[in-house]
Amino acid sequence: MLSSEDVFDLSLEVLKVVEDAAIAAARTMGFGDSESADRVAVESMRRVLDTVAINGAIVIGEGERDKAPMLYIGEKVGASRDQPDAPAVDIAVDPLEGTNLCATGAPGAITVLAAAEKGGLLHAPDCYMEKIVVGPAAKGAVDLDAPVKHNLKAIARRLQRGVDDLVVVVLDRPRHQQLISDIRACGARIRLIADGDLSAGIAAAVVGTGVHVVMGIGGAPEGVLTAAALRCLNGEILGRLIVKDESQRERMEAMGLRDHKKIYVTKELAHGRSISFAACGVTEGSLLQGVRFFGDGIRTHSIVLTSNPARVRFVDTVHLENRPDVKVRFR
Ligand code: FBP
Repeated sequence: MLSSEDVFDLSLEVLKVVEDAAIAAARTMGFGDSESADRVAVESMRRVLDTVAINGAIVIGEGERDKAPMLYIGEKVGASRDQPDAPAVDIAVDPLEGTNLCATGAPGAITVLAAAEKGGLLHAPDCYMEKIVVGPAAKGAVDLDAPVKHNLKAIARRLQRGVDDLVVVVLDRPRHQQLISDIRACGARIRLIADGDLSAGIAAAVVGTGVHVVMGIGGAPEGVLTAAALRCLNGEILGRLIVKDESQRERMEAMGLRDHKKIYVTKELAHGRSISFAACGVTEGSLLQGVRFFGDGIRTHSIVLTSNPARVRFVDTVHLENRPDVKVRFR
């Protein structure tokens, strides 16, 4: 149960939120309908969040209040949302990262939630962010403004290997044409992904996933969520917001972000003292297995992270609801 102290551990609560959303989304896998995949994940997240004893506020969600019916920015959530004495928690969600991946049954779709004490997560506008994400070994070695060659050499040196041994994850977008040819010119290998730079960013911070760095432009909300995970995994994200037009500029300024050229470091994107983060695989990925339905039950695979206490948990859950005779397998 959550205490009213500054330091809290929401591991079990956030786990349940992402697991249930993943199960709901996975039921729609391959239906070719990304909107309904997202909708069921959002509805599930909203429903489960309201059973958690917090006075929560969505700081990164499905969009602005007038554009999203649920989990919109500013929405109050949690079973204690009307109780000023209950712990105030800021919440960032991506109910289904990789809606198209889920709709086509492609790898890499996940459900994600991060929580921190009030003010502990940057309120980033829904714009793009230029990013570079590395794991603990390469922390402090990269520079967002440095040439690609410089960064790849620095990462390779820290990982004690050649540049040609690196795998760089890049979103497969026309805007990355120059980046891709620069990486190729260095001899590093590339994994082009259709969607999901958040899940790739988490994988970059975990040794053995085969992902060494994520580079390029993706969503700013995904950047903040990546930072929340990396605070707990000791990795690093550097990110700069990309302001497309006047309305985004105004939106940014309304959020108190005045320096449009600023490069944010991990701790500025997710500066909370008590960060809880959870992601659950919907379809299989580099780090997490997808949801498996097996007649008697459902199996989910999640990562649950807390900064305080510092814990990394890989959670393999067998859901047995209403199935008393189910046989549980070791794997
Ligand atoms: P979804 O909205 O389908 O979850 O897509 C997620 C994503 O691929 C992110 O991983 C990435 O940061 C962003 O979209 C990239 O945006 P765009 O598709 O506009 O290039």
